[in-house]
Amino acid sequence: MNVADLPKVELHLHHEGAAPPAFVRQLAQEKSVDISKVFNAQGGYAFNDFVHFLSVYEQATSVLKTPEDYGRLTTAVLEESAANGVVYTESFISPDFCGGGDLGAWKEYLHAIQDAADKAEAAHGIILRAVVTCVRHFGPEKAKASALCAAETAGDWVVGFGMGGDEGQGRQGDFAYSYDMAREAGLRLTSHAGEFGGPDSVRDAIRDLGVERIGHGVRAIEDPELVQELIDRDITLEVCPGSNVVLGVFPDFAAHPIERLRSAGVKVTVSTDDPPFFATTMRREYQMLNQAFGYDADIFHTLNTTAAHAAFCNDETRARVLKALETT
Ligand code: HPA
Ligand code: ZN
Repeated sequence: MNVADLPKVELHLHHEGAAPPAFVRQLAQEKSVDISKVFNAQGGYAFNDFVHFLSVYEQATSVLKTPEDYGRLTTAVLEESAANGVVYTESFISPDFCGGGDLGAWKEYLHAIQDAADKAEAAHGIILRAVVTCVRHFGPEKAKASALCAAETAGDWVVGFGMGGDEGQGRQGDFAYSYDMAREAGLRLTSHAGEFGGPDSVRDAIRDLGVERIGHGVRAIEDPELVQELIDRDITLEVCPGSNVVLGVFPDFAAHPIERLRSAGVKVTVSTDDPPFFATTMRREYQMLNQAFGYDADIFHTLNTTAAHAAFCNDETRARVLKALETT
């Protein structure tokens, strides 16, 4: 069997970062927005490094102006994920981009996204849940508005709170107030750490924010004590190997630490991050891991079961996901 055909759970996907370039170009044309600098000659997204990537990401995202646009985005993203065999996905959705942190507007965006997700689930069986994210380089004050939006809409669909953006700006602990608010609302917590920041960034996310999952976290490999701490605390890493390679965190798949972390006993999972930006898909990630490390159906099944257990959804949904991993 081709491992790329296996059913998959994806825990780390930025909603706008999953937008197909053709979809973004279409919206730009409809709205007469000039985003030609976002694309390369082949029509893919063009950027030189991580900070440039974040800027291109925000320019591409600027064509998404209304709740309806986010509904259409959700349909496009979930069709692509379902075509890749994804049965459950957790998507990072940011109130900064969906209504600018205004609670009333956020609810309208969320409604449109959820409506599209319900239709995609009926059509393709794929389940979506939302992890509301603040954007680190927008600063702690904007994060508080995002956390309030998250807390006010927390439930069976908005299931988590997280932080993306430029890990080079500020510290994890600057966002403790927002994380406390999200935790008090019952949301489960994750943060990007140990991607561009080193092991200390991962430690800060655990100690200062109390996260139970880490976005990336792969640079923990530089510190054996931290690797042991991840195991002891039962923390799951949302690993995105193809993203790390394109952004130069590691030179290629063979040099990626996912296998060293896994064999040490750390709970690792596999995601795409921003698939069209990084010229990847879930199918491709599985193929590359199979080539680099010989990951077979058994290993992928374990990774997907780990992901299902680390998912922030309720137990009724988790049971459905686990069943889909067995039967598809
Ligand atoms: N990393 C960090 N922040 C982000 C990303 C990412 O890949 N995509 C969108 N915001
Ligand atoms: Zn990410």
